[in-house]
Amino acid sequence: MGELDGRVALVTGGARGQGAAEAAIFSREGAEVVIADVLDEQGERTAGSLGCRYHHLDVTSETEWEAVVADVVDRTGRLDILMNNAGIFRPARLVNTSTELWNQTVAINQTGVFFGMRTAVKAMIEAGNGGSIINTSSVAGLEGTFGSTAYGATKWAVTGMTKVVAKEAGKHGIRVNSIHPGVIVTDMITDMLAGGQDEKMVARQPIGRLGTAEDIAEMALFLASDRSSYCTGQAFTVDGGIHG
Ligand SMILES: NC(=O)c1ccc[n+]([C@@H]2O[C@H](COP(=O)([O-])OP(=O)(O)OC[C@H]3O[C@@H](n4cnc5c(N)ncnc54)[C@H](O)[C@@H]3O)[C@@H](O)[C@H]2O)c1
Repeated sequence: MGELDGRVALVTGGARGQGAAEAAIFSREGAEVVIADVLDEQGERTAGSLGCRYHHLDVTSETEWEAVVADVVDRTGRLDILMNNAGIFRPARLVNTSTELWNQTVAINQTGVFFGMRTAVKAMIEAGNGGSIINTSSVAGLEGTFGSTAYGATKWAVTGMTKVVAKEAGKHGIRVNSIHPGVIVTDMITDMLAGGQDEKMVARQPIGRLGTAEDIAEMALFLASDRSSYCTGQAFTVDGGIHG
C-alpha cells in the first residue's frame, strides 16, 4: 500500500532536480504522476524511467496550463496533487537587475505559480476530492538573501500567495503549503558550487552538508499525503538549519 494510492499528481519542472525526485517519490507511493516541463527530451526520459507521463508545459503560458490540466482530468477524472516546482535562479544585485531579467523571473517563478494554482483549484473543486497544492519557495522567500532581488521578490510572493489561497481553498478540502529549500545540489546551482565554493557553503551549514533533491522530496511527500491533513497555509523549511 502506497501513501498516495489512487491519487493523481502534476509536477512542474519535473524533468530534473527536485521535481524529478518529487515525481519519483510520488510514483513510488502509488500516485499516477504527470511530469511537466519545457525540457522535453529530458522530461520524456525522466518520465520513462519512472513509468509516468510527460506533458510539455511552459508555466508562463495560461493556455498551456489549461491544456495540461484538462488532459490530466480528461484521462483520470481528477487532480489531487499539484507540485508547483518549476523555477529559475539568475542572481543579480538590484542595480544589475535588467527589466528583462526581472520580467522573466516574475513570469516563471511567480505568475507560473499563480496560473498553476488558479487552474488546479478550479479542477480540484470540480472533481470534488479536495487536494494538496505544494509551492516551491526558498529560504529566499523567508529572509533577505543578498544579491538576488528578482528571485527573492518572487519567492516571497510564493510564500504570500500560498497563505492567501490556503484561506480561500480550505473549505473545498484543498490544502496549500510552501516548501523552502536551502542550498540543494541540483543543476540550478552548479555555477555557484564551482571553484571550491561548495566547501565554503558546507562550512556555513549547521547540518554539515548541502541538501539533496531527495531531502526536499520527502517533505513534498509529507505535504501531499494525508499525514499533513491538518496543515495548510504554512511554510516548511528544509535547509539544514541555515534560516534560523
Ligand atoms: N537548488 C537550490 O538550491 C534551490 C534552493 C531554493 C529553492 N529552489 C527552488 O526549487 C525549485 C526546483 O529547482 P531545482 O533546484 O530542482 O533546479 P533545476 O534547475 O534543476 O530545476 C528547475 C526545473 O524547472 C524547469 N523550468 C524552468 N523554467 C520553466 C518554465 N517556464 N516552465 C516549465 N518548467 C520550467 C527547468 O526546465 C527545470 O527542469 C525551483 O523553484 C527553485 O527556485 C532551489
